[in-house]
Amino acid sequence: MSRTEPTTQGRTDGPDDRPATPADERRTADRRTSERRTAARAAWTNPLRDPDDRRMPRIAGPSGLVIFGVTGDLARKKLLPAVYDLANRGLLPAGFSLIGYGRRDWSKADFEEQVLEAVKGRARTPWRQQVWDRLAEGIFFVRGDFKDDDAFDRLADLTRELDETRGTGGNWAYYLSVPPDYFPDVCHQLERSGLAAGADGWRRVVIEKPFGHDEASARELNEIVNAVFPESAVFRIDHYLGKETVQNIMALRFANQLFDPLFNSHYIDHVQITMAEDIGLGGRAGYYDGIGAARDVMQNHLLQLLALIAMEEPVTFNPSELQSEKLKVLRATSAVGPFARTTARGQYTAGWQGSEQVRGLREEDGFDPESRTETYAAATFGINSRRWAGVPFYLRTGKRLGRRVTEIALVFKEAPHLPFGPGQTAAQGNNVLVIRVQPDEGVLMRFGSKVPGSAMEVRDVNMDFSYSEAFTEESPEAYERLILDALLDEASLFPTNEEVEESWRILDPILDHWASTGRPDDYPAGTWGPDSADAMLARDGRAWRRP
Ligand code: BG6
Repeated sequence: MSRTEPTTQGRTDGPDDRPATPADERRTADRRTSERRTAARAAWTNPLRDPDDRRMPRIAGPSGLVIFGVTGDLARKKLLPAVYDLANRGLLPAGFSLIGYGRRDWSKADFEEQVLEAVKGRARTPWRQQVWDRLAEGIFFVRGDFKDDDAFDRLADLTRELDETRGTGGNWAYYLSVPPDYFPDVCHQLERSGLAAGADGWRRVVIEKPFGHDEASARELNEIVNAVFPESAVFRIDHYLGKETVQNIMALRFANQLFDPLFNSHYIDHVQITMAEDIGLGGRAGYYDGIGAARDVMQNHLLQLLALIAMEEPVTFNPSELQSEKLKVLRATSAVGPFARTTARGQYTAGWQGSEQVRGLREEDGFDPESRTETYAAATFGINSRRWAGVPFYLRTGKRLGRRVTEIALVFKEAPHLPFGPGQTAAQGNNVLVIRVQPDEGVLMRFGSKVPGSAMEVRDVNMDFSYSEAFTEESPEAYERLILDALLDEASLFPTNEEVEESWRILDPILDHWASTGRPDDYPAGTWGPDSADAMLARDGRAWRRP
């Protein structure tokens, strides 16, 4: 069920007069919890505070976070530092509790030390001993694997104890930072041990990608998760949506009059969405080999960017309105074929990354020397809507490319008439609006301008907005924003099950085509991808931007 679908409001029996199933009962309990919460919030409303004023800091209410897969890379590099940063900014409640769950034989003190190490290297906010001391009081570890009934029972006992001693109030978010193969076990255990639902408080599950490897497997996973947690309690992470610049797409389009009226096929020739990384895949074979660039980031981050650029204006920014606009545009999107001509894929070989000589994918530790996994993917998409019909959206991503950059470029059509002499506009290209997602976050407009002098000659110039120059505030790390949102039940920045399934529906035909056609083309590390990617755009009379 999606957040946008009607629920079985006000009834404990199932829809269509059938007897209530456990899922119906869970939904009813969930609705009651949500009503109780709304009433509680209303009772505590500060009459001097404007509820619509989004500038007020949003502070999570009493709650705790359990992280499964806490010894993994993501937890160490992103989640634990984000928790500290939230505490440091004063956005977590006083009795906030963090429970790590894993197989290591760690005591509370051992885990505290691990968290401290992760935080010290990576937190964005300055070190404050006092903040750490308070946070550390609420840090706990439970040892066990995902099939261990006893360990989950101990986890349940611990959460109940913390509800009493630290005032977490039965409000728990479970962060599944584990491969999807483990989702069934963890969900089953959360249900069996009574952790998934409770008489008091809320229970939510936060899920990391990859969410399946095609549409069918995503549907299966959704069924497994939704059998235990109603969709309103499921928060699927796409960390790109937590990035400041990605949220700025909505501000740029819908807070201004200058841009959005031009976002359509009358003015836009095509759109290029690029996510380039200079890093290689050493150390990530376990996750990446057999997955590849399209599944790793195109299915989620890049298609989400496409949805935000192409969607219609939501009625409001509440989660269901925003998600339904994204879903609408994803439903209208499909991969454009024939794929032999409209897509390209590559795999990096040894080369120079700046001044460093680096290995090719097939020589990286852990990768199959015969690996066919693509580290570069480019594809063409079309949107069947009045606004976008006929405008190709070219998406590309790759590892070991020239440099790290994520950007969305809207390339305009040529002016319908140029009242200049031959040669006067020869040095002018198409106008371009570039949203620089990272690094060097900002927005750039490229347009023609007269070259000073007595002759009329037009050449391209840049008008550049840079976040770091315009604002003094530093953007929070995406995971900080998303963890806080999950604790606050603010679902706008989390894709729903339907969005995930739609994205796979869009991508699957390309993946099937690639699976049946040989191996990816080679490209040397440090370059901008395989020649076939340039040829793909050249066939349409276009070229990739060199960011
Ligand atoms: C992850 C991918 O989702 O995003 C990684 O799995 C990728 O392969 C990462 O490196 C990039 O994130 P960011 O925020 O550095 O652009």
